Formats: sequence, structure tokens, C-alpha cells
Amino acid sequence: LSNGLALTPPMGWSSWNQFGDQIDEILIRDTIQTMASNGLKDAGYVFVNLDDGWQRYKGNRSANPLEADPVKFPSGIKALADFAHAHGFKLGIYSGPGQSTCAGYTGSEGHEDEDAAMFASWGIDHLKYDSCCSHEHAPKSEVQKIVLKMSKALLAQSHPIVYHACHCGWADIWEWAADEGANQWRIGQDISDEFNYPGNREKYYFDVLDMLDRGNELVKYSGPGHWNDYDMLIVGLNGNSSQLVGTGASNIEYRTHFSMWAMVASPLLIGSDVRTLDTYSLQTLTNKEVIEVSQDPLGNAAETVGVGEEAGGDLQVYAKEMLDGSYAVALLNRGSFTAEMSISPRRDLTMPWDQYRLRDLWKHKEGTYDVPYTTEVMPHEAKVLRLWQVQANASMCFFQ
Ligand code: DGJ
Repeated sequence: LSNGLALTPPMGWSSWNQFGDQIDEILIRDTIQTMASNGLKDAGYVFVNLDDGWQRYKGNRSANPLEADPVKFPSGIKALADFAHAHGFKLGIYSGPGQSTCAGYTGSEGHEDEDAAMFASWGIDHLKYDSCCSHEHAPKSEVQKIVLKMSKALLAQSHPIVYHACHCGWADIWEWAADEGANQWRIGQDISDEFNYPGNREKYYFDVLDMLDRGNELVKYSGPGHWNDYDMLIVGLNGNSSQLVGTGASNIEYRTHFSMWAMVASPLLIGSDVRTLDTYSLQTLTNKEVIEVSQDPLGNAAETVGVGEEAGGDLQVYAKEMLDGSYAVALLNRGSFTAEMSISPRRDLTMPWDQYRLRDLWKHKEGTYDVPYTTEVMPHEAKVLRLWQVQANASMCFFQ
């Protein structure tokens, strides 16, 4: 959406994956305070987004107004937005184009302008406009109409609001929403809290690998102001989500998931309880060098540049060019065996570099090379690397 917002993928937290509709202002305030002090805010996570369940009424909008639940949010949403802003955060909210939302709360149908004005008057900075129940099988033209209706309503407000139109993988939203539609859109159904969930993706059970496969076909639609959204992060859920299927992932799998979301320039919205986040998850989420890959101003999304045939497609190389002319590369092992993987600027990136500096963004170590770089990648691991051309005559040093 050409509203000058979300020029890099939005970063923050969203309530749904962990809490579902069991949210209240104490949780949100605690989340804000925790993120302000545990390094998440400093790492760039500034959106705190209420998902479904903040509303007072269930049922049709024609019979109920859209208001905050006075038991869950006794101080009101404006007070919460003020609190968020005072701590250097932005507050996001949730609604949908139907009579009711996915979890059955009142939606915005027929009240789009009024709701947009209400959100703006509260100081809301991000709207997730979900649509799973009401418009799943609607024709594309109908979906366009409802998405554009709300984007126009938001654009008419003087307070800037990032617009997430959550069409979970249908109506080809990526083909038509970049300019006038939305700042981000989901490319699939809800993610599972598992790296490779055995359930069937056609039955709405997406997982990390399904999202990557789906996104790989959609890379060209993503860019500054309009992002493919691979869904909220599962890092740190550890099988305790109140909403998602799956029994959790290993540390390395969560790290790979995070690395890949950064590579493909998905929004990075933490989906777990930040108040009880384990140290490994926090370290994963706050790796500044990987976040730099996500937040690069050029806004490229990585795509596969090579697939290891001998491993039946389990070994994939993802790459994207960065603003400074360097490349971010992920060596992703989707298989069950440790494998040697390599990257060569000439072979894989078609960059005629004789020498290059290569940095491992998880090990925080680097070296200079004039031959392909080879490394062992564990099952479900992704090495994230950054490569810069080295001009001739620069001295060689070695990976330590
Ligand atoms: C479906 C979306 O995919 C989820 O992320 C969440 O927003 C729920 N709807 C809320 O009802």
C-alpha cells in the first residue's frame, strides 16, 4: 500500500498464537514493559498487536456495536495506545470485513469509515483486517472491494495506520494489493507450532516448510510497503500455544524458522509469551545481524538459487541482494541428515567476485575466500551468511 508505511517488514508482537482471545490490558501492559526491558524493543520489535478478542460483543455487527470489552480492557484502548506510545511502542488492533470476525466477535461490515476513524482517534498504528470466516470463498472482485474499502477508510485518517489485510492465501491478494491494497497480507493459513507438521496443508495445516514453499512462488510481489506475510512467529511457543496445532519445535528449528522469515522479508511478529521467553529464544529473536537481513532498506525477499539434487531437494540455498551490494545467503537443510553445503558467488549468485568476505551471522565469525565456501549443516538448520566482494589486493585472512 503506497501510504509510506512499512518500508521494511513490520516487527513486533501479536497476541494470537499464544493467547487466542484470552487477552486483557494487564497482559498487554506487561508485554510492553517486558519488551522494553529485555532487549526486544531495542532490537526493533515495536508493534504490539491485539488480535481477535478485544471486542465486547460476539455476534453480528448489525446487532452489536464495536467496543472494547470493558472487563478485559477497563481503561479502554486509547489509554493502552497512550501507554504503548509512552514506552516507545506502537499499538495494533484487529477487525474484519464481515458481520463477525473469525472468533465470532463483531466485525466492521457497513461501518468501515466509522471504525477507521475510531481506531485513528485512539492512536492505533496497525490494523489486522482478517477475513477467514466471511470471505473465504468469495470471488476475487468481492475480496478486492472489501480490502480496498478499508484501505481507503484508513488513508482518509490523519493518523498513519499500517494495514494488514489478512487473506490467508486466497483471492491472489499479492497480485493486486501492492499499491492500493495493503501493507502486508498472509500467504497461507495459520502456521503450526512444528517445523514439518504431518497434517495436510490443504486442510489448513501449514508449517514452516509449507510457508517457505508457498512464499518462494510469490517473491516478486513483496517489497517496501507491501510484504508477503508468512504468519506470526512460533519461536518460544514450545508446544504451549492455545491456538496452533503442533507439539513445538527444537531450538535449532525455531532458529531456522526465524532466520528464514528474515531472509524472505516476512513481517516478524513474535507469537509467544515474551514474559516467560527462554534465553535461547530471546537470543534467537535479538540477533542484530539477522535482523539487519530482514530490515535491509532495499526490501528484497530471498528466493532459492539452488536445490541439492543428490538430497532430493532437501538442501536449498536462498539468497538476496542487500542495499550495500552484499548478499545474504541461507544454506537450508530440510532433510534428516547432516550435509555439506556450499556457496560460491560465481556459481550461485552469478557475481564474478574473485575474492569475497563471508560472515556467519549466527557464529559471528568471518573470513576471506577465493574458492567456494563449504560447511556442515545439521538437519533442519539454516546457516545464515553474508558475502561481500573484496577488491583485488586486499589481504587474505582465514575463517577462525
Ligand atoms: C485467523 C488468523 O489466521 C489468525 O492469525 C487469527 O487472527 C485468527 N483468525 C483470529 O480469529
